Amino acid sequence: MTQILDTSPSSIARAAECLRAGGLVAFPTETVYGLGAHALDAAAVRRLFEAKGRPANDPLIVHVASANDVRGLVARIPPHGELLAARFWPGPLTLVMPKSPRIPLEVTAGLDTVAIRMPAHPVARALLEAAQVPIAAPSANLFSRPSPTRTAHVLHDLEGRIDLVIDGGPTTVGVESTVLDLTSDPPMVLRPGAVTLEMLKGLLPNVRMRANAVEPGPQPSPGMFSKHYSPRAPLVLFKGPPEAALDALVARARQAAADGRRVGVLAMREDVDVFGDFPVCFAEMGTGRDLAGVALRLYAALRELDAAGVDIIFARDIDADEGLGRAIRDRLHRAASEIVRL
Ligand code: TXA
Ligand code: MG
Repeated sequence: MTQILDTSPSSIARAAECLRAGGLVAFPTETVYGLGAHALDAAAVRRLFEAKGRPANDPLIVHVASANDVRGLVARIPPHGELLAARFWPGPLTLVMPKSPRIPLEVTAGLDTVAIRMPAHPVARALLEAAQVPIAAPSANLFSRPSPTRTAHVLHDLEGRIDLVIDGGPTTVGVESTVLDLTSDPPMVLRPGAVTLEMLKGLLPNVRMRANAVEPGPQPSPGMFSKHYSPRAPLVLFKGPPEAALDALVARARQAAADGRRVGVLAMREDVDVFGDFPVCFAEMGTGRDLAGVALRLYAALRELDAAGVDIIFARDIDADEGLGRAIRDRLHRAASEIVRL
């Protein structure tokens, strides 16, 4: 049985005790819900991989209560590590650094580097402070399912497979943290997030995006799978000039509906009106003028379409090539099983 806890101090204390004893606890962070395990307890970490159905070659992020805790977890802090932490922690930035031998190889999937972040969510911070141990936490979804932004998503995937979930309400960012590799020269963004490339360039002028962060293809490190974050129904993504993409999408959706398929559309609010007279199940992500809102709604909208039992999902790529737009594009591409270029 999975128990649901509130965010009271006594609940946090209980969740912290459960983690220290090797249990699995889902908790809110500002990005998505995480599934935590004691990061220095190899057996707990193995249980975590099992609960998620996650392949053992996909490394985990270690969460810390304070930047001071990093010192005991890394072999050394690379140049700019302290400056970046001072500027962006607590917050949605994960730093990849050379690992200390204290970190079990289970956590890092055998790599000699470790990914570390200090989350900003008050519940995550209270839990980390109470636990007094570093917490390894991937997103609290079943492997390859969209990340959870609400407790209901966590329970849908993991009820009965984990000990506790702390219900802290919906998360506030909606897409996972930016992963920045500080062990490469130049430093590389492996996964775009709410700490954007533009923000990082202020401190790290030579920082680069991993070349294939958006386009599917072979991945440089274990776990950087291109196919990820998938809804159950196949998602077809239309790329190109917005009007042409939308026209092609509507034509394809009309045909699918005519073929008797249940059609889902992951839609911008401004696009809904152009669908005429055929049945479509819309999940709105908000408007292109508010990318933070789109990031927040993206995974919940994918889950809504799955819950509605659609056979196929159509989406138009967003028309934004910088800032948070990169993170949204990256997730749309990873969710897609077909990309139509116009
Ligand atoms: O926002 C987040 O980061 C959330 C919350 C819960 O903190 N966590 C999260 O974890 O998204 P997960 O496991 O779903 O994604 C971790 C990502 C993976 O893409 C993994 O490959 C990468 O971080 N990663 C972890 N350790 C790494 C390492 N040593 N080198 C390169 N990439 C690493
Ligand atoms: Mg994940």
